Amino acid sequence: MKFSATDRQKTLYINGLSGSKPLIPIDANKLRETAKERLSTEAYTYIAGGAGREDTMTANRQGFNQWQIVPRVLNDVSERNTSLNLFGQSLNSPFLLAPIGVLEMAHRNADRAVAQAAKNTATPMIFSNQASISMESCARILEESPHWFQLYWSQSDELVKSLVKRAEGCGCTAIVVTLDTTLLGWRSRDLDLAYLPFLEGKGIAQYTSDPVFMQMLEEKDDTAAKQTSRNINPTSLAALVGLAWRFPGSFLGNLSSGTPLKAVRKFVNIYSRPSITWENLAFLRQHTSLPIILKGILHPDDALKALQYGADGIIVSNHGGRQVDGAISAIAALPDVVKAINRKIPVLMDSGIRGGADAFKALALGATAVCIGRPYVYALAIAGSEGIEELINNYKADFELTMALTGCKSLEEINKNCLT
Ligand SMILES: Cc1cc2nc3c(=O)[nH]c(=O)nc-3n(C[C@H](O)[C@H](O)[C@H](O)COP(=O)(O)O)c2cc1C
Repeated sequence: MKFSATDRQKTLYINGLSGSKPLIPIDANKLRETAKERLSTEAYTYIAGGAGREDTMTANRQGFNQWQIVPRVLNDVSERNTSLNLFGQSLNSPFLLAPIGVLEMAHRNADRAVAQAAKNTATPMIFSNQASISMESCARILEESPHWFQLYWSQSDELVKSLVKRAEGCGCTAIVVTLDTTLLGWRSRDLDLAYLPFLEGKGIAQYTSDPVFMQMLEEKDDTAAKQTSRNINPTSLAALVGLAWRFPGSFLGNLSSGTPLKAVRKFVNIYSRPSITWENLAFLRQHTSLPIILKGILHPDDALKALQYGADGIIVSNHGGRQVDGAISAIAALPDVVKAINRKIPVLMDSGIRGGADAFKALALGATAVCIGRPYVYALAIAGSEGIEELINNYKADFELTMALTGCKSLEEINKNCLT
């Protein structure tokens, strides 16, 4: 059934007559606060936190507030069309779900719950390289519904090739290469807790389901062992047991083989490649015919490089302020990047999207589409798959109403004149 913003709005009000309230708070701050009550301290900290003093996170919101929408009237907005075509696929709205790792921290169904909500709303899901559930399992849920794969360029070209082939094999229609996380940012809140989920074997399902990665575990690797060796005490023993539970295969087999710990060590050692340069992109081009989308572009000169090196799309993003503290907000970076790209390839955007009006502003500044990040993780924590579905429908409704009330009937009519 075709989505309608007014139907969504009516449903919420009419449900209220019989005493039923929305599953998740509509307000972005209340959503986060409610999720905080459901999440462990470690999980909330990992999801909500950013780099350093978190000034980039603050800037992401302030950046949106610096632009204001100027509504227009008497323009017959009774019919509205929010559809678009992106990389040859037709989408019913300009929203995608950003790649977010370690979702098992938010809900036991993790990426599966996201896949179900994405399918029910026909919203593209970008599988994270750090997912808690393998891409193949999620793709089986999504079937024909659009899904992309996000890649972290590991130390091993063989692993990169294998991940990309698997993505093609399970029906992904684009590869997103995240460029802003060749090293992990200085994440104050996580450092205070001395907590990193990957060391507990969380968020490494794309690796443990990969034949090339599993083969690599057979290789001797002393440096990795040193990096993750810990003191033996009740806490570290509990972590080891948890790791053996979560790891594919039998619990006892995992405990006796020590494979889970080997996998974590190997992952820590190879997960990213700080030496990567523009020249490496040719390797990826050689190994996939899918569109290649570069995530984490903020400078117009990098946007020009992306064009020069044959990218098919870019995502303007500062990783939700998790990488560089005191960085430019994504929405502030967008206009110059859009200008540099000059409509040659789609420019997507994320970092700070907290509702339909934010998406409207991003599109008015030249974005083709936007990715929802943390809010869907909070919705997942509160109400699982249904929570995410509600969140997406709320964003779509909010966006469509904002568009109509600004006098726009379709995405093509949204432009910089809509803002001041
Ligand atoms: C908990 C968490 C995990 C993330 N994991 C990934 C990831 O695996 N790959 C990636 O490219 N980006 C990842 N991101 C960044 C998101 O894709 C997106 O850029 C960011 O969430 C946007 O900022 P916002 O959530 O504040 O809107 C992650 C973000 C969060 C909050």
